[in-house]
Amino acid sequence: MAAPLKVGVAGLGTVGAALIAQVARQREALAVRCGRAIDIVAVSARSRAKDRGIDIKKMKWVKDPVELAREPGIDVFVELIGGAGEPARAAVEAALASGKSVVTANKALLARHGVKLADVAERSHVALNFEAAVGGVIPIVKTLREGMAGNSFERIYGILNGTCNYILTRMEEDKLPFAECLKEAQRLGYAEADPSFDIEDHDTAQKLAILASLAFGTKVDQSAIYVEGISSITPADLWAAGELGYRVKLLGVAVRTPKGIEQRVHPTMVPKSSSIAQVMGVTNAVTIDAADIDPLTLVGPGAGGAATASAVLCDIGDIARGVRTAPFGRPAGRLTDVRKAPMQRHEGGYYIRLIARDKPGTAATIAKRLAEQDISLESIVQRHDPAHLGRDTQAGSVPVILITYATSEDAVRKALAAVGRDRVISGHPQVIRLEKN
Ligand SMILES: NC(=O)c1ccc[n+]([C@@H]2O[C@H](COP(=O)([O-])OP(=O)(O)OC[C@H]3O[C@@H](n4cnc5c(N)ncnc54)[C@H](OP(=O)(O)O)[C@@H]3O)[C@@H](O)[C@H]2O)c1
Repeated sequence: MAAPLKVGVAGLGTVGAALIAQVARQREALAVRCGRAIDIVAVSARSRAKDRGIDIKKMKWVKDPVELAREPGIDVFVELIGGAGEPARAAVEAALASGKSVVTANKALLARHGVKLADVAERSHVALNFEAAVGGVIPIVKTLREGMAGNSFERIYGILNGTCNYILTRMEEDKLPFAECLKEAQRLGYAEADPSFDIEDHDTAQKLAILASLAFGTKVDQSAIYVEGISSITPADLWAAGELGYRVKLLGVAVRTPKGIEQRVHPTMVPKSSSIAQVMGVTNAVTIDAADIDPLTLVGPGAGGAATASAVLCDIGDIARGVRTAPFGRPAGRLTDVRKAPMQRHEGGYYIRLIARDKPGTAATIAKRLAEQDISLESIVQRHDPAHLGRDTQAGSVPVILITYATSEDAVRKALAAVGRDRVISGHPQVIRLEKN
């Protein structure tokens, strides 16, 4: 058997501690599967004294993660500190530059510096693996990079943030307002202490930027993504969606269009019959649309120490076996620039909820403004929901829910601006984009 693979781990929090426990538990099986043992020989974290429930007595303690990254006694550096800044960035760069393969779960780092780090890894002829950065235990990086390397991708979309999916699930099932569900998610430890990262939804955007790069060969660029969070969604929207055969999910979508690769994160109506609509609670899912095959959906736990650690361990296993692939599936120098998709040119179906003044001529005025923009309607619902979830509805007004056939964002915005000027509605119209399955 070949010599053991010597691993240094920086970061012993939720994921790092679970990784150390898993490697200890699986030692024999890993050695058989990989053809060599995997030994964690050195570690780094902020506090040496903290009880982490793991045995690190035989491992070398290195105070500075950058120093650990350069440690001559290790073959692989595992970064589980997090964040796009220091010390994670400097440590990963130092490890790659000194000829050590790197495994990381750090989506923020990859979204910001992924292309540069991939370039350093390629020049050093080492691996940069990051399966755990997107979708937890779901092997989506490997699927796009290796498992489906022969396919031409048309669209990738998914539920990439468990917290948002948990909140939407609770709002739908128990008809609770957004703020209440968010508080519950925080209480249960799902949401970050600063929830804006989850709900506004930079977390999904970072993951989508990585997936888009793997699928379409674009440079990882979070700033090219249109982002809209879920805080404006109400139980009334979820009820209306259900009545019309849809469910609302926060999706990250990257799609090939004649104008280029459109990348967007926003609340989305998906048909209730679709695979992605079945995914409830903190679970993640990714659907892949590739030419000539039916879409396939991967579903699984998107976070948590054990789930994330198992993805990290899979990446370490590849290095132990001597498998090395270009980090983004092609040389970093061949990744193309991506421009931010102009959302006003986005085309698709729309859900629109208006609070219409209950007076003669209102329906005709709304219909006229939509027709002026060539917007055709698939369905119209004009009634109060039974539970009066639309608490924004005042006396003398009635909710009107419209589902359009495919149209452009520009047309929808212009029609709604005209309806607003006509003074036949109160409040702001709610607009949710539809995604076909
Ligand atoms: N948690 C999840 O479910 C999950 C899922 C997918 C991906 N990830 C990613 O996995 C990575 C780790 O996440 P986590 O949840 O395990 O984080 P965490 O629980 O906050 O752990 C972070 C670890 O990094 C150490 N650390 C922080 N600053 C340091 C510094 N300056 N020098 C040395 N060590 C430092 C901390 O040390 P102390 O313990 O001594 O404070 C801690 O052990 C992140 O990139 C995250 O995005 C996490």
